[in-house]
Amino acid sequence: MNTQKWTRFFYQPGIGLGENGSRLTQSREHIDISRQAACEGMVLLKNDRDILPVAEGTRLALFGKGTFDYVKGGGGSGDVGTKYITNLYEGMKQMTGHVTVYEPLADFYREDVNRQYSEGAAPGMTAEPAIPEELLGKAAAFADLAVISICRFSGEGWDRKSSFDEQLSEGGEEADAFTSRSNELFPRGDFYLTDAEQEMVEKVCSHFDKVAVVLNVGGMIDTSWFADDDRIGAVLMGWQAGMEGGLAEAELLCGLAVPSGKLSDTFAARLEDYPSADTFHESEDYVCYYEDIYVGYRYFETIPGAAEKVVYPFGYGLSYTTFEVLDPAAECKEDRIVVTCDVRNTGSYAGKEVVQVYYSAPDGKLGKPARELAGFKKTRLLQPGEMQHVIISFPVSDMASYDDLGKVAASSYVLEKGTYSFHVGTSVRDTVCTAFALTLEKDETVCTLERRMAPSMLPKRLRSDGTFEELPMGTDPRTISNNGLTPMTEDELWAAAPAVRPAPPVKLFEREDKGIRLSDVAEGKISLDEFMKELTDEDLAWLLGGQPNIGPANTFGFGNNLRLGIPPVMTADGPAGLRFQPWTGVTTTAFPCATLLACTWDPETVYKVGRAGAEEVKENNVGVWLTPAINIHRNPLCGRNFEYYSEDPFLAGSLAGAMVRGIQSMHIAASVKHFALNNKETNRKESDSRASERAIREIYLKAFEKIVKEADPWTIMSSYNLINGHRASENEDLLTHILRGEWGFKGMVTTDWWTNGEQYVECAAGNDMKMGCGYPERVMEALEKGLITRDVLETAAKRILGMILKLD
Ligand code: BGC
Repeated sequence: MNTQKWTRFFYQPGIGLGENGSRLTQSREHIDISRQAACEGMVLLKNDRDILPVAEGTRLALFGKGTFDYVKGGGGSGDVGTKYITNLYEGMKQMTGHVTVYEPLADFYREDVNRQYSEGAAPGMTAEPAIPEELLGKAAAFADLAVISICRFSGEGWDRKSSFDEQLSEGGEEADAFTSRSNELFPRGDFYLTDAEQEMVEKVCSHFDKVAVVLNVGGMIDTSWFADDDRIGAVLMGWQAGMEGGLAEAELLCGLAVPSGKLSDTFAARLEDYPSADTFHESEDYVCYYEDIYVGYRYFETIPGAAEKVVYPFGYGLSYTTFEVLDPAAECKEDRIVVTCDVRNTGSYAGKEVVQVYYSAPDGKLGKPARELAGFKKTRLLQPGEMQHVIISFPVSDMASYDDLGKVAASSYVLEKGTYSFHVGTSVRDTVCTAFALTLEKDETVCTLERRMAPSMLPKRLRSDGTFEELPMGTDPRTISNNGLTPMTEDELWAAAPAVRPAPPVKLFEREDKGIRLSDVAEGKISLDEFMKELTDEDLAWLLGGQPNIGPANTFGFGNNLRLGIPPVMTADGPAGLRFQPWTGVTTTAFPCATLLACTWDPETVYKVGRAGAEEVKENNVGVWLTPAINIHRNPLCGRNFEYYSEDPFLAGSLAGAMVRGIQSMHIAASVKHFALNNKETNRKESDSRASERAIREIYLKAFEKIVKEADPWTIMSSYNLINGHRASENEDLLTHILRGEWGFKGMVTTDWWTNGEQYVECAAGNDMKMGCGYPERVMEALEKGLITRDVLETAAKRILGMILKLD
């Protein structure tokens, strides 16, 4: 076939990427990748009395409306329109010969869920029905094992509620509808079981000797109700695992696959146990990150009195087999710490273990978390008795802390003097300290940067001993306007679709090969700098904003200057699959949510998902996949946590970096989002995230930094929110000095869709593209008024074109 670079973007052909032109989109091959990833990331939390795997010939009673109401992923832009979804019941029915399901109970839940759906309930937003006593008795007489399903749903634009929040506002119609439905269904907040769920659990436990629970959730929930209840023998954290999630659950429960996932977050007993609990819904205008760097296990493992609040620690997860970590040792070789050990399968099933390496830095003047993850490795599938040698290494400089207040060396990453110890094991708690420790006689400065993004409205921050340190205060930058134009109203900005640029009539057969075209740059005939001379100011202004949709795309495009041969490159969401609107007729593979992917602790699996997703993106003629999303799980209530990886930036950066590599191996651009500190959905366009420079750099930017340095993403998406009083999209410190200056980012930055920022201010700060819609006439006005220069516009345009040149 005579196709050229960008044929897909110009002509939107239906060319399949599979063998003989067959389509890979939602192919068996891709659905298998989705299910295998699901199996790899589900976490076995509890398995007493060998309840699991379910023995052959077992008779099952499936309890809970979650048996049918399967939530494949979260809502909003992270949703995926897929051809079918396999729930746990359907999954179990595929375990033919292995188990028998008690059908009358299944009929009861199926009918109830279908009724609720037909009355307008969304998946996961249904009420738990009370089980009729008689049915319960019959189920108990029939079955050997009860399996309870609990499900949860959350989505973009709204946050989960807690019992101590009186009200939650915001969001637009859809978000409001979800918020009020959520308030109705979960009066104590959906972190906890509802009364009806509790009652169901109680009844099941009182009728069955053997009870297993499956959690179909997108984020942290209360786990203390089963951790402390001996009647509940086994629990599988199934997450929201994509289109065949119910089948993956069934395969794991029945032992067709062996669980090997590990938690990417700490599970505490109560919402109030998380250090960010008080500030999460304190205000709609700002969030104070008082807990500073003590997020997740950094808090629970460090702060006095916090350890006992943990139900399941970070990095924890069981298998059907057992492992031994033998001879853990460490040494320092050429500025790297090299850790080695052997892992032996000591049980009777084949399985995989994840070796985790943590370091403890001396508390020093800055204060340090008791443990920090520095490396990990998932073993291959080890047969019973089999052993694998594991080597994990990392630079000594990775252990440096950022000194934002100049206690050791101002604005520098420093290694404080003292002893650095290394802990090797299978969760943050289950570790052995190596005999070797690194001792530094004096403080060392790794690099000196500049003060950036420092707070002026954060009065205090947590210290490692549990007390608070006062921080210098200043004026709120939000009181100073940086806009030389008359600002647009939020209403004008919201959901505007890009205009079609008027073009004069041309002669049909002459247009395509006349004059200089972007393909001349691709073919090396001219340089990009020479090409730039062909662009008028107006061309530039149009190029810096979103372009109209073509084909099934609904999030608009980049490029689109036909006179100069710049292709219209469509964008589409992620992260859990390629998202099109259902009415376009294109359905795609729904992969597991990002939190599950994080729990695989397996970059290879995540790479495969990234590559398969990008194949679907390419096959459907889209060029930029708005994936991965890597904001830190600061608090369980963030409505979009399911789209994000972890409370730990090293884990998030390692796995999402693999996702970026997988995507870009298909010459599709990944768009790493939301840069940065977008850890809450409520009032997300105007909420100010107030954090110390140290927390920003060590926690909230770290995963982005790792990905930029190691995986070279072609695009980054700035976030809606403000950071210390400045909009992320207008933040020169963030987008120019840190991202490009310090980290060496070479790609382009796009805004999130319809930010409240002013386009020329965003562009001057280093935010090249305004999405979903640009405002060429305002950019021209700013140019005419001398508020921005052509040079700045050209720089942004060159980055966008540079990205397009990498696509095909
Ligand atoms: C979301 C982004 C998404 C974009 C395009 C925004 O509302 O925050 O994550 O990529 O929309 O759909």
